[in-house]
Formats: sequence, structure tokens, C-alpha cells
Amino acid sequence: MTGQIIRPFGPTIYKGKFSEKLRLEIIERSTNSNESASKHLAGNMKIEQFIELSQECGGELTSKVQDYLGQCHRAGLFKPKSELKGMSFEKIWVNHQQKGEWNPPHVHSGDFSMVGYCQVPEELKNEWKFENQKGQDPVGGKIQWNYGTSTPHNTAVFGPVTPEEGDIYIFPAWLLHFVFPFNSDVTRISFSTNCHLIY
Ligand SMILES: [Fe+2]
Repeated sequence: MTGQIIRPFGPTIYKGKFSEKLRLEIIERSTNSNESASKHLAGNMKIEQFIELSQECGGELTSKVQDYLGQCHRAGLFKPKSELKGMSFEKIWVNHQQKGEWNPPHVHSGDFSMVGYCQVPEELKNEWKFENQKGQDPVGGKIQWNYGTSTPHNTAVFGPVTPEEGDIYIFPAWLLHFVFPFNSDVTRISFSTNCHLIY
């Protein structure tokens, strides 16, 4: 007779896909936005813009968080402190990451955070060809989450994760994460926001 494994510790990360409509809306609105988010953010990037979303696309983000929380709740990994009345989002910011730019280790505000990928150029798949990516694990343009200390038989790192267009990740806002720089002369576009639960 076999037993069962139990994994009672650690944060839970959600991975999903968002729509082409949302992807195109974020690219278009961030390209035309004149509201820089840079002074509010940890990133070492020239172009970080705030945007507003249409009601439909904003609703899509809400449904992703509901999916995440619903699955966590059913698995016993999320226990609201009282009846949950809804959620609100901070203003969305969009990073147009260029060659040599990066996001150092940081955390967010709010309860949960998300990152979604709107443009991931094919060239980033060839980062391993650059001399400075010849180590064990080429990391150019990838994201990584860290939790706790690396110890035997314990998982302290999720990544480096290679983002794909249309991917969305949701995670606890306090979870440390960072983005590596790349060499290719391209623009990688991602968006983020923070979600606050309303009780
Ligand atoms: Fe972040």
C-alpha cells in the first residue's frame, strides 16, 4: 500500500493564458501612454508606462484572479479571513524592456500580483548564443521567483522561466521575483498590476 505526499508549505503560483484582444489592447495603450510609471517601480528600464484598460479587458483580469483563488480555495491553500466582497486593482503598468535593462529582486504591494507577456520576440530564444550566456543556464529575458533559502530536498526557486506571449502568472504580492537582462536588440513587453481583496 502506498502513502501520499503532502506539500503544506510555500506560495502557490498560477499560470494561465490571456486573450489576443487583451494583448493587443495593452501594446496599443502602452505605446500611446504618456504617463510614465518609472518613479514608482523597481525596474531599471526607460519605458514603463501606466495604462487604463477597457471594461471588457479589465474583467478578463478579474476572472483570472477568481480562477486562481477558486482553485487555491478548493485545494485548501487560500482561506479568506471573512466573506470576500470583491477585489480592486492598482493601475496597470507596462514594461517595454530593451537590451541591457532588467528588474532587480523586488516585491509588490497588495494581496496578489500578476505579470503577463504581450510581446516576446523570437530573438530571445537565441540568447544562449551570446558569450555572456554560456553558463549552465542561459537566463536572458527570463523571470524567476524565489522563496526561502536553498536547502536540501526543498524548493526555493521557480525559474528561470521563459515567458511566452499570452502567458499570465499570478502570485502572492510579497513573493520575491526578478527579471534578467538580455542582449538582443528587441523589445519585450510585459504588464503587471496588484490586486487588493475587499472584505
Ligand atoms: Fe514585479
